[in-house]
Amino acid sequence: MGSQPLLTTLELIIKDDCIWTYAGHEPKIPAPDLISKVSAGMTFVGVAGEKSIRGTFLDNLLINYDYNHQSGTHRDLFGIKANRVPVFEHDGYWAKVLQELEREDTTWNDIIRNPVVLTAPKTYTGILEYAFPALITFRTSFLLGEILQVHILYPETETQTKTFVLVFTKPKHPILIPLLRRSMLSAVTTVVEQDTRAIETSYPRTTPKIRLPKEEIMFHAQKLYHDWED
Ligand SMILES: [Fe+2]
Repeated sequence: MGSQPLLTTLELIIKDDCIWTYAGHEPKIPAPDLISKVSAGMTFVGVAGEKSIRGTFLDNLLINYDYNHQSGTHRDLFGIKANRVPVFEHDGYWAKVLQELEREDTTWNDIIRNPVVLTAPKTYTGILEYAFPALITFRTSFLLGEILQVHILYPETETQTKTFVLVFTKPKHPILIPLLRRSMLSAVTTVVEQDTRAIETSYPRTTPKIRLPKEEIMFHAQKLYHDWED
């Protein structure tokens, strides 16, 4: 036996309450501080939607950047019928979107399937903040408080992408946290399952010829991705 260690130690980076690792790869940019920024003043609820998705990193990235997909992919969960985006700003690897969402009327079926919809107002605002390439965050308020989803994405292989979601809340009263925990985590699990189905069953994408204002963010994400590779 030589003196070579059998295992190289995994380098860990501690950033606020999170531990990052690049699995031996040299980090290209510092670990982002977005998680602690967007979750300031909120309570951690748990992790949901941990999955290995059969899809390239780019396909996963694009569906998460695309704030329009909520009214298609997640239609039966949130019943979103209108989606206005008054703000889209970006600076380097960071981007932010403000959206105004309008829901369809809630049916009894919806309530039985997912009690969380009962607490969702008819119109509400969503704030998306992105830290390319690994983080997509979505924060919104409902009648009982606020919910924050931090989607983590990283490539496992050329054709497989890992994801999980950190869920935070800021309830109007702390007594609500244990009551809401289960339905918040299960709603987020459903969100990831719907994204997974959309990614795993979609046909290969073609680049659209006309650029709609709503698709600006997709071109932005695609550019970051291709510039990263070069
Ligand atoms: Fe989604």
